[in-house]
Order: sequence, then C-alpha cells, then structure tokens
Amino acid sequence: MSTTQPRKILVTSALPYANGAIHLGHLVEYIQTDIWVRFQKMRGHECWYVCADDTHGTPVMLRAEQEGITPEQLIARVHAEHSRDFAGFLVNFDNYYSTHSPETQECANLIYRRLKEAGLIEVRTIEQYYDPVKAMFLPDRFIKGECPKCGAKDQYGDNCEACGAAYTPNELKNPYSAVSGAPPVLKNSEHYFFKLSAPQCQELLRRWTREKGRLQPEAANKLQEWLGEEGENKLTDWDISRDAPYFGFEIPDAPGKYFYVWLDAPIGYMGSFKNLCARKGLDFDEWFKPDSATELYHFIGKDILYFHALFWPAELAHAGFRTPSKIFAHGFLTVDGAKMSKSRGTFITAASYLAQGLDPEWLRYYFAGKLTNTLEDLDLSLDDFVARVNADLIGKYINIASRSAGFIIKRFNGQLAPADADLPAIRAIQEAAPRIAELFEAREFGKAMREVMALADGANQYVDRVKPWELARREGQEVELHAACSNSLNLFRLLTVLLKPVLPDVAKKVETFLNVAPLTWDDTATLLAGGHGIQPYQHLMTRIDPKQVAALVEANKASLAPADTTASQAAPARAAGHSPQRHGEKQQHEAQAAEAAAAAGPHISIDDFMKLDLRVAKIVEASQVEGADKLVRLMLDIGEEKPRQVFAGIKSAYDPAQLQGRLTVMVANLAPRKMKFGLSEGMVLAASDPEGKTSGLYLLAPDPGAQPGMRIK
Ligand code: 2FM
Ligand code: ZN
Repeated sequence: MSTTQPRKILVTSALPYANGAIHLGHLVEYIQTDIWVRFQKMRGHECWYVCADDTHGTPVMLRAEQEGITPEQLIARVHAEHSRDFAGFLVNFDNYYSTHSPETQECANLIYRRLKEAGLIEVRTIEQYYDPVKAMFLPDRFIKGECPKCGAKDQYGDNCEACGAAYTPNELKNPYSAVSGAPPVLKNSEHYFFKLSAPQCQELLRRWTREKGRLQPEAANKLQEWLGEEGENKLTDWDISRDAPYFGFEIPDAPGKYFYVWLDAPIGYMGSFKNLCARKGLDFDEWFKPDSATELYHFIGKDILYFHALFWPAELAHAGFRTPSKIFAHGFLTVDGAKMSKSRGTFITAASYLAQGLDPEWLRYYFAGKLTNTLEDLDLSLDDFVARVNADLIGKYINIASRSAGFIIKRFNGQLAPADADLPAIRAIQEAAPRIAELFEAREFGKAMREVMALADGANQYVDRVKPWELARREGQEVELHAACSNSLNLFRLLTVLLKPVLPDVAKKVETFLNVAPLTWDDTATLLAGGHGIQPYQHLMTRIDPKQVAALVEANKASLAPADTTASQAAPARAAGHSPQRHGEKQQHEAQAAEAAAAAGPHISIDDFMKLDLRVAKIVEASQVEGADKLVRLMLDIGEEKPRQVFAGIKSAYDPAQLQGRLTVMVANLAPRKMKFGLSEGMVLAASDPEGKTSGLYLLAPDPGAQPGMRIK
C-alpha cells in the first residue's frame, strides 16, 4: 500500500563553488534537502536529488594559477573533497556532478540560442576596470583602493568595511588590482545581456512569482519589491558574458567571450540531471518540457533568491522549458548567536567535524530540530547542541531499545511476543504519523522533531511504568517481561521510522538489529508479529562529550587561513548572513574579507607554514646582472632536472664569485616572477636587521651534510 499517489520529483541544492571547503553553513542546506528527499523516497515517490560543483569563474581560474595547476586539476580535486564531505554527512545525492560537463555546456548553448531567437539577447559596449599587467578585466571584488567616504585603505570595490559605505569601483580612490597590484585602467568591451527588462520577462515574472506556493511569503514580498508596482519597470538587463581569460564555456557565436559563471550555474542542475537520465534510462524531456507533470524544487540560501526566482524562471520559460514548481529558500547559520568566525573557531569545516570523530547524525538531528520552512536564520548553540543530542537522541530514543533488547535475546531466544496494538503509546505514534508526514512535507522539521520527542516521552513513560529490569528479577513474571520488552521494541521501531529521514545510518543499524526490511513510511501502520526474531542489540549511537566540541572549536581556530584574493567565491557570505542579493559580482567578498580581518593576528597555523616549500639549494652559478644595482643572478640546484634562475637583492653584501658552490635556503613554490632581466623562479632567504641599524645581509646556510633539494620544515 502506498501512502499517496506516487509523484515524480526532482530536487536540487545550490551548487557549491569549486574553490572552497564545505562548512557547517553549507550543511544546513544539504542536510535540509537530504532529509526532505529521504522522506519523499520513504513515501514511495520517484524522487531524484541532483547537485554539482559550480566550477567556473575568475576565482577558480586564479586559484588554479596560484597553485600552479590547471583549473581542471583544481576542480577535480575539489570535487573529490566535496563528494567525501557530503558522503560523510550522509547527504545522498543521486548525482553529484560538475558544471564543467558536456551536458551543462549543451544545455547552456541551447538556452542561449533560444533566448537569442526570442530577441532576448543584446550586445552592448560597457566600460570596465582592466588590469594592464595581468591583461584581464577585473571583477569588482578584485579591485581595491581607498574608501571614497572615510579614506580607509585596502577596501574592496563595492563597500567599505571601516565605515560601511557602499559605492561602485569607479569611486574608489587610488584603485589597484588585487591580482597584480597594478592601477587598473578603464577599458571598453562588448558584453552580452539577457533582456530581463523586456515586457515578456516582466509579464512572466509578475505572474509566476504570484502563483500560489511558488515562493515562501517573505520571498514573494522580496520579489514584489524587486519587480515594483504594475507598470513600473524596475528590472535591469543581466550581463551574462565575461571576457577572456576566463574559466568557463565560450559563447558559441562570440569568440573570446564566455558565459558568466552565474549563467551556467543553475543550468548545471539540468546538466547533472541529464547525466543521471542517461545512466538511469530516464526521459529528460519528460521532466523539463513546458507542461511537465513532474515536480521541480530548488533548495537555496536566501541570498541567491534573485538568481533563482527572477533570472532562472525567465530564462527557462523563454527557452522553451518548464519553470521550477517551487523555490525553498532558507536562512543563514549562526554559531552561538554570531556569524561564523575563524578567529573564534566557529567557522567549522565539514572535514574538521568528521576528523574530530563527531557523529554526523548528531548534527543532522540538531539542524532538523531547528529547521523551519521560513527564511529565518538558524543558530547552532554549541552547549545546546550537546544538551539536546544527549537528552533527546540518547536519553529519550536510543535508551528505549537498549533497556529492552538484552532481555529478548537472553530470556526469549531473540523472539518477540505480539505487540499490544491498543497500548496508548503505540496508538499515539500511529495516530501522529500522518501529521508528522505533513510536517516533513512542509519542511517544518523542527515541529516534526518536537512531536517525535513527545511521542518518545510517551514510550519512556511506558517503559518506566512496566520496569522490565524489575520484572526480570522477579520469579514468574516471564509473560509480563516478554510483553513489556516486545512493546518497547515496537515503540522503538515506530519512532525509528519517524526519525529515519534524519538519522539514516541509525535506522539502517536498527533494521539489522530488528531484522526487518528497509523501513518505509507505511511501516508506521504495522507492528512486528509475535514470534519475530531479532538480532543481538548493536551499538547505535554514543553521547556527545562536551570536550569533543571544545576540541573541534580549537582545531578550527588552529587552521586560520590568511587573507587570500582567490579564496572561496561566496560561501562564507551565505553562512555568515551577508549579501542580501548577489545579481552582480558585488558584495560577495564582504563576509570573507571581514573574516580575514578578524583572523589577522600574530600567529599562523602549522598548515600555513607547511604551504611554504623550503629547500636546500646549491648555488651552481652566480653572476652580476647588467643594469641592476642590487641584484645577483643565481642558478640554484634543488635536485631538479635543471637549475632554477633566481634574481636576489644581495649585491651589496656578496661578491658573486664567493657564492658559487655554497648551500643556501630557497622558497621553491613562490610563483615565478617576470623581471626586466628574465624570469625569477623562487627566492633565497637572507637575514637582516628589521630596523636597519646595521646594513648587513646574511644569506642562510644549512649545516654540513644537507643535500640540494632537501625539504626544510
Ligand atoms: O552561491 C553559491 O555558492 C553558488 N555557487 C550557488 C549556485 S546555485 C545554482 F544556481 F547553481
Ligand atoms: Zn569608509
């Protein structure tokens, strides 16, 4: 018997950028979506959950360059890391793909061609900042300078962190490129625009955003604000192209122009699903045709509503595809009431949580207990996390089984007595199940968890009343003991069904222990038959020790990263509760820059230190550099095929002839630098007095015995 008519449901979570680690802020969304998808699958619906890495854009390109690898190598590595982290938190995608895929490119080209045929693409010349050294146009967040209002130095191109003023990059004083440091110049370039201001887009969006259930009330209000009053035209056209060099898809009929990362990101949902369709024999068109009877849901952070509720439906509809059934936006994560902070150790990565040995289902339960279907932020209070998991999961839920299972195994050969179908605690769960299903369906997980825990209280009251441990000590109470333990295990099984979307691994262990097929929602209506045999009780979950949480915070404090121009594109903003709208490339760096500022302190972590590749180097050749006052040209052997050339500013202290044959220390992974005299492929280390009281310069040298190429740590 199926609970309802089977539906065909396609679900997505926002695609994480391919240049940053997954952290707890991200996990709010993936855990929320995963719970919903697991619930739908338990109901017997055909439900597919797809996602992918969001791989394109300037930050990915620059980070790869900085690491000395290709963007393809970078995104392959990050894909493996993200997949590992998601699997670690039991986020069960049916496909975790990449936007850098033939399917996404094919869909992007098709959508672009159809929008063009519909007259919705326009080419315009715009003036933009250009880095003449790096020979590239600069996204806003790669331009820095002095705040036009308060004069604070080193502010990003969109807003000032010192005084909070918002402005455009053109207003910055003494602007410079965050990539090369050079002053940028304004330069013209042709860009491709999607005409969101066209009447057909306005009409569609006014209708679409008002349709019942498409958007949550707060989101619909926001959209109203963006769309303006009837007759008003507040939408501006969207710049969907970027100039080379850019890591992305080249626009088919525009050599040297690339689709902006945000154009192909949501198309990545289609690409990932298309790839899944090919593997599973599904009909992609059935799911994406305009009148499709299937359902499409996007779970997103509230900061990317503009992209999903304006650009995306307008693109889809005018390119001959269906639009999303609903958009489910959520709020941001705070930790202990404040935005996640690296310096406080509350910017917690998924990998560090797992590495500290914390159980992913603790967090899944805690988030579930706090999730609503609104855009409100969610707070992870670390003390409350410990208290709630221990009280609810261990104290109320797991205990029911651990107090009864042993008696069934030892005293009744592992066989159950028939359950009492009229037991109030059992009836209460069975009666509540449809209501709890509605709460899961409505993404009111917090309310669902509260109901489940109230039912668990009822189950515990039963166990406390019948006291199996006392019955077990008394002679002639076998029947009562058997009934008490069998009822308890039936209560436990029913509660497990209700918790299974949240605690899939525990549920799996329970299925093994109770010797039952994978539990579905319909199992709330049944009980285990008398004579049913169970397996010995196996460990299901431990209590959290507050020390584990303290160690996690310490570990995240220790991994502070220095400010980095190519760091994660926007993930911190999502977690930190910034960036109300990101339809330009503005504001994305806000939270990250603030984090970096907060993190700046007297220490670096061991990870930071280990980024330096220091090597013992033998100076095989040293010579004067014609036309240079300070430089000596060194050829350094560090055990590689050929020596490296390095220009070192040590002429004032050393005669090149003395240097030949000696050992020194070299930074081997410094990005090569083009100089007037040639390429400098590293740096040698020398000591000097920071206050300049003495003018001496002292080249470092290892003790005798060190060999060229040895690593220094
Ligand atoms: O904000 C972000 O992290 C984006 N990478 C989300 C993209 S979601 C979708 F559009 F692909
Ligand atoms: Zn300012």
